[in-house]
Amino acid sequence: MSIQFAPDTGLLTLHTAHTSYQMWADSIGVLHHLYYGPSLGAGDDLRGTEFYSDCGFSPQPAGVEDRRYSLDTINQEYTGCGVGDYRIACLSLQNPDGSRTADLRFAGVEILPGKYALPGLPASFGSEDDCQTLRITLKDSVSRLTVTLLYGVFEAADVITRAVLFRNDADGPLTLNKAASACLDLPFGSWDLIHFQGRHCMERQKERMPLPRAVTTLRSARGASSHHHNPFAILAAPDAGEEAGECLGAMLVYSGNFKIECEVSQMGSTRLVAGISDENFSWTLAPGESFTAPEVLFSYSATGLGDLSHQYHRFLQEHVIRSRWKDRPRPVLLNNWEATYMDFDAERLYRIARQARELGVELFVLDDGWFGHRVDDKGGLGDWQINEVKLGCTLPELIHRIHALGMLFGLWVEPEMVSADSDLYAVHPDWAFAVPGRAPTTGRSQLVLDLGRPEVVDHLYQVMSHLLRDNDISYIKWDMNRNLTDVFSRALPASRQGEAAHRYLLGLYALLDRLTTEFPDVLFEGCAGGGGRFDAGMLYYFPQSWCSDDTDPIHRLKIQYGTSFGYPPAAMGSHVSASPNHQSGRSTPLATRAIVAMSGTFGYELDLQTLSDEEKEQVRSQIHTYRSLQPLLLQGRYDRLTDAATDRYFTAWQLTAADQSTAVINLVVLDPQANPWPIHIRPRHLDPKACYRDSLTGRVCSGAALCHAGLTLPALMGTYPAVQITLERTE
Ligand code: DGJ
Repeated sequence: MSIQFAPDTGLLTLHTAHTSYQMWADSIGVLHHLYYGPSLGAGDDLRGTEFYSDCGFSPQPAGVEDRRYSLDTINQEYTGCGVGDYRIACLSLQNPDGSRTADLRFAGVEILPGKYALPGLPASFGSEDDCQTLRITLKDSVSRLTVTLLYGVFEAADVITRAVLFRNDADGPLTLNKAASACLDLPFGSWDLIHFQGRHCMERQKERMPLPRAVTTLRSARGASSHHHNPFAILAAPDAGEEAGECLGAMLVYSGNFKIECEVSQMGSTRLVAGISDENFSWTLAPGESFTAPEVLFSYSATGLGDLSHQYHRFLQEHVIRSRWKDRPRPVLLNNWEATYMDFDAERLYRIARQARELGVELFVLDDGWFGHRVDDKGGLGDWQINEVKLGCTLPELIHRIHALGMLFGLWVEPEMVSADSDLYAVHPDWAFAVPGRAPTTGRSQLVLDLGRPEVVDHLYQVMSHLLRDNDISYIKWDMNRNLTDVFSRALPASRQGEAAHRYLLGLYALLDRLTTEFPDVLFEGCAGGGGRFDAGMLYYFPQSWCSDDTDPIHRLKIQYGTSFGYPPAAMGSHVSASPNHQSGRSTPLATRAIVAMSGTFGYELDLQTLSDEEKEQVRSQIHTYRSLQPLLLQGRYDRLTDAATDRYFTAWQLTAADQSTAVINLVVLDPQANPWPIHIRPRHLDPKACYRDSLTGRVCSGAALCHAGLTLPALMGTYPAVQITLERTE
């Protein structure tokens, strides 16, 4: 049994393969958090590890005389508000009398087979063999707010999921001004925070810092999870590295405004609270109504960051990404964006596609600029009919020509947006977010549709489903090129405007659910100006996401490195583009660009006609290599062999087959040296007893020798040289 409840003591213990998690409902119904870490013994009771002292200025709940007992110092599973815990609160409640108090007390437990679902929200899934559900009910008896804490215990995966349901059981309205998804109080230890910050074209840059005795907040207020912060954070022991040490992750399955807050308290405990951001958020519950806070995925590793990442990769692949494509070979694609931008007609596209096909590309993707009167990025969004004048043919004719080359056809769309210069906006100007009486802020000259309105979602469903039904389209790139402003919904009364940003997400999720359910064989790739919405919420619907608009391979090393802490390579869209690179102006060898792009769903983003014959042959052989290595590259275990955020000499990473029969090591030299230091790497997770041949030298030696003594490479000279070394088991 993964979940144990002892009604006599109030102890609740969750077990996964390598971890345990313990809580305790005490005699007045406060739910304490006792432990999350390596597996405990059966029957272990950690109440004795709690520390009580009268620390002053920490108040007692009504009726409690013992001054050592305070919610301010007790480690808790989920906090109320206004009753003496001055640390970060999970909840902010406004009662009809204006009071802002919620005192949550334990009211019961249910243990159920299988995994709970969260209606309307993306969430992990699993069978009764994978998972058990725990529902803990907390109540505030005065407000009559019922808070149900949901736990999904995935035993083999070593993941514990959390989510929360709020129900108004009172006769009048209750307003939630904050409704976090989870709180995790770590009673002891000092922790480093590892998080992934950035900007457009430089997403998910890993940063690691000791948590200060203060509140540290990662957040997005952009209506999307954003390029700037990712809804994923790791707490790591100061000595934790890739191969050793304690670390735990918190990943939100949500794509909108979020907050992950950490606080080191006066007594040295560490609190992490994660959920929808409370900035500009409120949600009013009429009597009987409920609100669901999105899911958080917790995972813990006592053996370092490499194993933690591996746990997340496996979990997302097996229990979050639901597309049929997650295990299928992904077609090698050519996307015309950096080849032509919006300057094309059907003939130009056809020539690019024909060249790509000759070299082995399987899918041609037509990016932005094919619809409405879209001559530049100032108009046309919303009018999803092909611009026949610009293209010189109909969409079926274009698709037919691509198919005749033996290629699949894919299309770019940006359905959540509208241009003021569009037919859609002329008919429905009120569908875009705008505050009455104010001219709306624009981003990339476009406005955002209010997806909180069911009629907008219905319209988008009609348009997109027709496009997919009427045309043989195998792939959709779903883009979002600005963040939300003027978040005011004309469909909501003044008192409910704090709901608009989350309702946008609910509308988006409903739309994606309908489309991906109806068209399960279409390969969808998420995108938000590159990696501006790279999160587990979007991956639930779309199995892959364009990692960044920066295709410079040297920048990509850091972007993909940061992304890899939480997200698997099979989710990372990654392409070879032109040299000099369009974003950085940097020149790099074609081989290096391909090795970097192969750590994701591989493709090209340039006009291959412009390459020399020798380069074309290289492309042919890259595609051949990728095809043969794809199962390993996308489904293998991913290990970071260097720290791409800080190492200046070279970056290396490894992919290893689950049966340890093969591994691939990729290495890019950033700064070739005169009188060079040796390039020495130690592969990981090979079978120590098996023998492997390395493709670089042809030498055969044991997995033990490779993992312990390592591989020494010859000096690599020139401009960003790279190597790809395969290790094949010989017997
Ligand atoms: C942003 C995307 O990330 C690019 O790849 C491209 O699709 C453009 N949008 C098109 O507008």
